[in-house]
Amino acid sequence: MKLFCFYIVAYIQAFNLHFASDPKALCLDGSPASYYKAEGYGTGAKQYILHFQGGARIDGSTQDQLIQSAYLRSKTQLGSSKDLNKQMLFNGMFSRSQNKNPYYYNWNLIHFNYCDGSLHQGYKSDPIEYLGTQLYFRGDVIVKSFISDLFQELSTADTVIVSGCSAGGNAAYFWIEYIRALLPQNVTVYGVPDSGMALNLLAIDGTDYPTESLIQLIDLVNIEVTHPNKQCVEKYSKESWKCYYAQYLFEFIKTPLFIIQSMYDYFSLTVRFKIDCAKNYTLTNCSKEELDFAQNLYKQNYEILSQRKKDYPETGAFAPSCLEHCFLLRDYYDSSDWEVPGDSGNTIQVALNNWLNSKTNPEDNFYVDKVEWPDNKKCSNSDYNNYSPLYVLSILLISHII
Ligand SMILES: *[C@@H]1O[C@H](CO)[C@@H](O)[C@H](O)[C@H]1NC(C)=O
Ligand SMILES: *[C@@H]1O[C@H](CO)[C@@H](O)[C@H](O)[C@H]1NC(C)=O
Ligand SMILES: *[C@@H]1O[C@H](CO)[C@@H](O)[C@H](O)[C@H]1NC(C)=O
Repeated sequence: MKLFCFYIVAYIQAFNLHFASDPKALCLDGSPASYYKAEGYGTGAKQYILHFQGGARIDGSTQDQLIQSAYLRSKTQLGSSKDLNKQMLFNGMFSRSQNKNPYYYNWNLIHFNYCDGSLHQGYKSDPIEYLGTQLYFRGDVIVKSFISDLFQELSTADTVIVSGCSAGGNAAYFWIEYIRALLPQNVTVYGVPDSGMALNLLAIDGTDYPTESLIQLIDLVNIEVTHPNKQCVEKYSKESWKCYYAQYLFEFIKTPLFIIQSMYDYFSLTVRFKIDCAKNYTLTNCSKEELDFAQNLYKQNYEILSQRKKDYPETGAFAPSCLEHCFLLRDYYDSSDWEVPGDSGNTIQVALNNWLNSKTNPEDNFYVDKVEWPDNKKCSNSDYNNYSPLYVLSILLISHII
């Protein structure tokens, strides 16, 4: 009997690997693009979440560096489907356990595996040969093939949530209008991008490597096809790199969004902006200049999110003043350490469900931390090392002088 129950649970929980049917939908190494899908049942049978996997992108200041970066990636699971497991389990919002994930455990949950290296977009018909390997750049046709393979069921769905984290959060912003336009109007579509709102700011040393390498990427993969949001590309025809930043793309996204984003995005701080002192998920060891940079990031995020809310009042958000990157498919999803405001009971799970099912005012449900770091105490890691030596020194000075 126990064994029997185990099989039932395993059957219900499993995500199965599927390959894209379009023969042009290839990963960097030429293997077929793939997604994991767990079938919905019961009340979730007509409910869908499409989640674009994250994993940064190929980068470089020159075409040669980009191609080298693509070559290295083609040897990993972020550039190939060769070594993927036939079955998979996920956490957080993609958990199949009713206990852990009461709202979505029985939905159709689909994980678009990321293997094109170019933010789930871009296309080159001819592969590029590098060190004897043919490299394929097919993000655009991969996503279109997934949507076309799933089209029949998606077009009779009640709800389709377009999500993803990091590079996959970018992709959710890029593709949401395309998906919305394709599906019948009686299918409700929402966007729930996680940690996909990188801001266009110079790093603390005044450099802008991310945009530089983005422009190289566009030269490589966006000659034959544009970015998926055509309206944005039309407006920024001379600066199409802007369409890769949510702050410029928002104007062209009419679909309701619930934005999940740390106000101090860990990846942005440490990688994009070179705030090295933040590497232990806290700002306690930062200099005044670094701390000012981080607090400016808070202010910019606050402004951009508030503007979106003003322009599109149905916008929801969960944006804590703590350093992290990617929440939805991790334990943060329902952790009481991650609430906005702190200790309010508003976990991501609660906040998102309030927004999706709000019978009251859809214009509420904007959970953006009003306090700066470290005042959302439970997630701030601020007593990790209490205060930075500089801060302690200044307190000592002040208390002695005054
Ligand atoms: C939407 O409309 C189509 C055709 O009119 C119908 O087949 C489908 O069941 C409808 N979907 C929902 C969720 O009502
Ligand atoms: C992070 O923590 C480790 C171990 O405590 C320490 O050695 C390192 O210096 C810390 N890094 C920063 C940037 O503070
Ligand atoms: C702060 O820096 C010191 C010295 O490098 C290190 O030992 C400590 O672990 C750091 N604290 C944090 C929280 O990173």
